[in-house]
Amino acid sequence: MKVKTLGQFIIERQADFPFAKGELSRLLRDIGIAAKIVNREVSKAGLVEILGDTGTVNIQGESVKKLDVFANDQFIAAFKAGGEVRAIASEENEHIITVGNTNSKYLVAIDPLDGSSNIDVNVSVGTIFSIYRCNTEQAEAQESDFFQIGRHQIAAGYVIYGSSCMLVYTTGHGVNGFTLDPSIGEFCLSHPDLKTPEQGMVYSINEGNRLQFSSGIQNYINQCHARGFASRYIGSGVADIHRNLLKGGIFMYPATQKATQGKLRLLYECNPLAMIVEQAGGSATNGLVSILDIPIQSLHQRTPLFIGSKHMVQEAQQYLKQG
Ligand code: AHG
Ligand code: MN
Ligand code: MN
Repeated sequence: MKVKTLGQFIIERQADFPFAKGELSRLLRDIGIAAKIVNREVSKAGLVEILGDTGTVNIQGESVKKLDVFANDQFIAAFKAGGEVRAIASEENEHIITVGNTNSKYLVAIDPLDGSSNIDVNVSVGTIFSIYRCNTEQAEAQESDFFQIGRHQIAAGYVIYGSSCMLVYTTGHGVNGFTLDPSIGEFCLSHPDLKTPEQGMVYSINEGNRLQFSSGIQNYINQCHARGFASRYIGSGVADIHRNLLKGGIFMYPATQKATQGKLRLLYECNPLAMIVEQAGGSATNGLVSILDIPIQSLHQRTPLFIGSKHMVQEAQQYLKQG
């Protein structure tokens, strides 16, 4: 069987960007390398004392796991060494990190480890990344350089550390998925030109929050029950959204009485996932407008999220309008 590695694919696709000089290709390659290192640690987590909490909380007020820190350090080190990134915004850091590459063109926003509450129990976790052009005139990138709508992303993707490790990304020309072949240590093209079904039979939401949802959401959930949809929610956003992308379905993290803006972060969770899902033919909204058009004013801004199969997101929005 003829395999195509991520490296070969990236070089082939460089022609999609006639004025690019290979920086984006090198940046994507660097992400692939860091992902392999994180995957290696995730897969032997129980053996190398990397499970559990660090004992600190991050800017989100959530407890930081040792693997959160490890993954964050790996990606930052890869961007520093690779030289293609001017600054990084990470879930694990309150402010942006400038890595001294003052001539580089790109900004990266990253959730180094998504679903970290699942690490200790051997459930899939992931990494989510988003790449923007750095438009600043100044040598040192500023936080405000990251305040671009999601539609301006140059590329976005995620890695899922699951029963196999996959990297899925888009540069705005469709979505392609690569599976890590551990025997050769390479991501190989396994899901070319991914398209998501327009209608699915799965809904994903933390129903434990049901009493805190608006009546519109509660009515939509009743409708999912009435239609016999399956409920699937593992609590790792990447894993839930990846499953729904392949099989069809809707993932929802609405506003609750406690979290009035929802839980998920616009810059490094919702925008990249929205770009992937839209590129695969699905939709992503906050209930009113496309995620990719939401203005951003702060690095860790949250938003409600409804993402997945087009018809399901449309229908959920109809219910939301009713209250
Ligand atoms: P993170 O581990 O990066 O903080 O993200 C966790 C997110 C997301 O992966 C998941 O969909 C959601 O939190 C689950 O939240 P609930 O436990 O509130 O359902
Ligand atoms: Mn996350
Ligand atoms: Mn995280």
